[in-house]
Amino acid sequence: MPGRQHALTRRAVIAGAVGLAGGCSAPRPGRARAELLSAPPRPHTVLAALDLPGSGRQGVAGALRRLAERTESAAAGVETAVALGASLFDRAGLAALRPRQLAAMPSFPGDVLDPRRCHGDVLVQVGADTAEEAAREAEAIADDLGVRWRMSGFREAARVDAGRPVATNLFGFVEGHGNPAGAEVVRVGDRQGEPAWAIGGSYLVVRVIQFATELWNRDTEAEQERIIGRRRDGTWLDGRPAGAEPGYAADPHGRRTPLDAHVRRANPRDGSVAPLARRGYSFRGRDEQGLLFTAYQKDLASGFEAVQRRLAGERLGRYTLTVGGGYFFVPPRAGTTSWVEPLLG
Ligand code: HEM
Repeated sequence: MPGRQHALTRRAVIAGAVGLAGGCSAPRPGRARAELLSAPPRPHTVLAALDLPGSGRQGVAGALRRLAERTESAAAGVETAVALGASLFDRAGLAALRPRQLAAMPSFPGDVLDPRRCHGDVLVQVGADTAEEAAREAEAIADDLGVRWRMSGFREAARVDAGRPVATNLFGFVEGHGNPAGAEVVRVGDRQGEPAWAIGGSYLVVRVIQFATELWNRDTEAEQERIIGRRRDGTWLDGRPAGAEPGYAADPHGRRTPLDAHVRRANPRDGSVAPLARRGYSFRGRDEQGLLFTAYQKDLASGFEAVQRRLAGERLGRYTLTVGGGYFFVPPRAGTTSWVEPLLG
């Protein structure tokens, strides 16, 4: 599609701020950190992926402990969390403790991944009320620990609808209504064969998705709504309220909600989908804008990977391009130091 090619490939793929100079920062007094998927999410976030200095268990242990102490003692009012990438377990000689499905994120059909914006030993997430505060805190926590890539994102403050945190993305559509209520369903349980230290944690998928907003805005609102499968405000196309279940059973041929609409492909409501909790943050850079897509689940294969496969070739794909991201594992109580010793033994 020439329009799409033009709109997306001309965008410079900017490497995240690699190798930023960083000063040393001692842990500072603060409040205890947020829980997994605390609601509502903070309006500003920084995702910083690190390749930790050092190797072997001892080498990596020092950096991990420092990181966990800093996240635990970040400034009051700031939320922090740490998630671990597959490469960490290799670098630290901890392969036996790697969550079973944790690997480097593969490239999916249509992706144009820039390795300088993918993966990382560790992902640090910092949430705050202002962009400046989030950036400052991320720098203090992470900058001397080998930043591989970094992105800043934003969403509306404290907006909750039908019990779910929601936010309008840069395509003008509200996201969040289809999420499960609460975090319990996305936590690793004790019967999944995962290492003991990982129980209560969650797999985190990050996707850096560029939006071709000019191309998108050339379509009518009605067409956009058929591509997504909901109205801009989240209401279903048959008029049901945003928080209700969709009426797919009464619409088997897709007359109201097309069978290839994003939401219908993502979750046909036939019971086959493991819950996926999505948290989107918009981003705007010099040559690009889009969505920092983050999704939590207890099982990657039946969570993100199954949904992503179902979305292959969807109409929405004409307007988006995934250029980065990674697979990570969020330990239980990820903003504290309590997960470190069970992992490092
Ligand atoms: C490419 C950019 C994307 C945009 C603009 C987008 C937008 C939306 C919107 C507007 C909704 C409806 C509101 C809601 O339930 O949150 C939605 C639902 C959903 N999206 Fe996306 N999305 C994108 C990417 C993805 C990706 C990469 C996945 C997973 C692989 C995904 C999975 C889902 C799921 C599971 C739902 C809920 C469906 C339901 O339960 O009814 N989306 N998305």
